[in-house]
Amino acid sequence: MKEILGVEHLSVTYTDGNRRIPAVNDVSFTVDEGEIIAIAGESGCGKSTLITAILQLLSPDIADITGSIRLNGQDLASVDPELLRRMRWTDISLVPQSAMNALNPIMSIEEQMKRIMAAHGTMPTTRDLDKRIDETLVMVNIQPRYKKLYPFELSGGMRQRVAIALALMLHPKLVVMDEPTTGLDVIVQRGILMEIRRLQKELGFAVCLVSHDMSLLIELAHTIYVMYAGRVIESGPSREIYRTPKHPYTQGLIACFPPLQGSRKVLEGIPGSPPDLGQLPPGCAFQPRCTQCLDICLAEIPVLEKVSSSRAVACHLYPSQLTSNTGESTYDRIS
Ligand SMILES: Nc1ncnc2c1ncn2[C@@H]1O[C@H](COP(=O)(O)OP(=O)(O)O)[C@@H](O)[C@H]1O
Ligand SMILES: [Mg+2]
Repeated sequence: MKEILGVEHLSVTYTDGNRRIPAVNDVSFTVDEGEIIAIAGESGCGKSTLITAILQLLSPDIADITGSIRLNGQDLASVDPELLRRMRWTDISLVPQSAMNALNPIMSIEEQMKRIMAAHGTMPTTRDLDKRIDETLVMVNIQPRYKKLYPFELSGGMRQRVAIALALMLHPKLVVMDEPTTGLDVIVQRGILMEIRRLQKELGFAVCLVSHDMSLLIELAHTIYVMYAGRVIESGPSREIYRTPKHPYTQGLIACFPPLQGSRKVLEGIPGSPPDLGQLPPGCAFQPRCTQCLDICLAEIPVLEKVSSSRAVACHLYPSQLTSNTGESTYDRIS
């Protein structure tokens, strides 16, 4: 499969006055053509920071960024701003965390769609343009007559559909969606997700989907990356992660969300909340909330290591391949 996005050792540190806040720490992943990958994790784990850094939307005044980002094989750091502007919407597009952020409150839906087309030099005849706008709206299940309306005249679910329509307008190869259904009621969420899945199958674009809702991600994504306190702490095929989550945090996240299908079960939350990224606890950032904490967890940050050909986990409960080959545990090695 051809790679569309390649993120390598990406770190983002906010510089907020004297405080340095490491919001993303050494994150690497790839997205291939037509693949759906998910970034999972509770609020405050650095997911939106990761996405905004990938889209080159973070100003150097507020954050230091290291590592590399390739889009269609091109290193984004070396792409000139004009080309980068053109790549947004046409190669990679974003559905931001709140649909209101994607939409201009003082412009009708139609005007906003025309603007995007015009900004990218694709200005077909008026008839073709109208047709394209109508088709795009129909694609996300919005009747074309609604195009005359303004964002405030639409329901939350419809606004989100419009935000998705804008992102799909120029047929990008990769659509990044940051919590596309958070804040909407469950029935509307479900409708939008089914739509994303249908569109993805029809049009074949790749998706990078960000959410804290594991059951949703397991249903939609091929591959999941679970983030905690700015780091990827587990990754692998979504079905495998669902069946055998390894990291105690992943286990907790899965237990927090009801499966979209199947029987009801009692949900257990994870006690506590993610740490302040400016004041991380020593050792593993999850240790204060972990029920399976070892002594080493208080002292050493676990690194993300492969536990099989397709899965990786950053947790001291799973000694690395290297040490398990010698029969020596990680703890023995370090202490
Ligand atoms: N503009 C900013 N300036 C300083 N710190 C920020 C800024 N934006 C986010 N952060 C820090 O990064 C953390 C992660 O935020 P975010 O990436 O939005 O996480 P998520 O999307 O997973 O909820 C926040 O808790 C905050 O500490
Ligand atoms: Mg976010």
